Amino acid sequence: MPDLLAKFDPLIEQRAALLEGGVTDPFNLVMEKVESPTVAICNGRRTILLGTYNYMGMTFDPDVVSAGQKALEDFGSGTTGSRVLNGTYSGHKAVEQALKEFYAMEHAMVFSTGYQANLGIISTVAGKDDYIILDIDSHASIYDGCALGNAQIVPFRHNDVEALEKRLKRLPPEAGKLVVLEGVYSMLGDVAPLNEMIAVSKANGAMVLVDEAHSMGFIGEHGRGVAEAQGVIDDVDFIIGTFSKSVGTVGGFCVSNHPKFEILRLVCRPYVFTASLPPSVVATAATSIRKLMNSADKRAHLWENSKRLHAGLRQLGFTLGTDEPQSAIIAVIMPDLETGAAMWEALLQEGLYVNLARPPATPAGMTLLRCSLCALHSEEQVGEILGMFAAAGRATGCIS
Ligand SMILES: Cc1ncc(COP(=O)(O)O)c(C=O)c1O
Repeated sequence: MPDLLAKFDPLIEQRAALLEGGVTDPFNLVMEKVESPTVAICNGRRTILLGTYNYMGMTFDPDVVSAGQKALEDFGSGTTGSRVLNGTYSGHKAVEQALKEFYAMEHAMVFSTGYQANLGIISTVAGKDDYIILDIDSHASIYDGCALGNAQIVPFRHNDVEALEKRLKRLPPEAGKLVVLEGVYSMLGDVAPLNEMIAVSKANGAMVLVDEAHSMGFIGEHGRGVAEAQGVIDDVDFIIGTFSKSVGTVGGFCVSNHPKFEILRLVCRPYVFTASLPPSVVATAATSIRKLMNSADKRAHLWENSKRLHAGLRQLGFTLGTDEPQSAIIAVIMPDLETGAAMWEALLQEGLYVNLARPPATPAGMTLLRCSLCALHSEEQVGEILGMFAAAGRATGCIS
């Protein structure tokens, strides 16, 4: 009998070779205790967290936690049903209302994850004979949304406005077109030129979807994301987001001003054919989103952290994914996977957790140590982090 898992042998061997050197498995770290959004106990030691998406530090917010506890007591542990059957509770409507107010948009639809939001909206909105024009560095959930649907896929070079325009001009003028962009690209932490890209898309008759997963809560005057910061949010047809980053729980959503948007609730398979989020989750999300509306001070502190870390790492001699800090993600480029894993391990020994990212998640075959800052990292913690990078970098030969 042919072993269907044999195709994974090269990966099994690569992983075994990495672990033979005695390093901790970078993809299997256990958080034994989480003390706060910035500190956990890993392998029995205090570890600063610099590899979570907890940008706004909402996971331990007392109002958020107590809203979840109350909903758990009042509504039970789960809905056991789809949103279109028994799975819509008052809490689901309340979180959709909070999203509409947060984005100042007419419609909001909540999914069980951000992954499913992309899967559902992309595969449903763009059908047979339509075209999806997407940045080649798009998140896996965007590619999977394309794979689930029947539209023709047209990729273009990362953040290249001219390439986008060229692709659009080659398509039949009368065809339905959906341009899919991200506000912040999560591997290098770079921001898209959405103002130019959206102008080009609209001039060529395309609708636009922007995934603002990594900018919600942080970028833009009201934390609505890169489209807000660049003054083009009113031209975006669909914004996709997640509760698993700045909101601090789990879930996904799409907001829109499209007058026919509500029909999607009946035709979007990843919305219809799955159970809805538990009442405690939607209660924590709604409370968190409302608090994010008034978080200008936290946003300012997060920018300070991002600038401080970016400048400090550069000064130490590390190569970074962007010349300037553009978001809360700062990617340190490693020469190869072995060095990256050694550096990751050395940082963990120092008491710092970052994400080790490698292909296929990363662009151009890169190995990255991805640092994501939190609004609750103190100035002292950022100083400690830089000290750990200096020590680990010298120990592994990454810097001199
Ligand atoms: C750009 C982007 N979109 C969507 C998602 C999926 O979000 P979720 O964790 O809610 O499934 C992610 C998650 O990392 C992401 O980076």
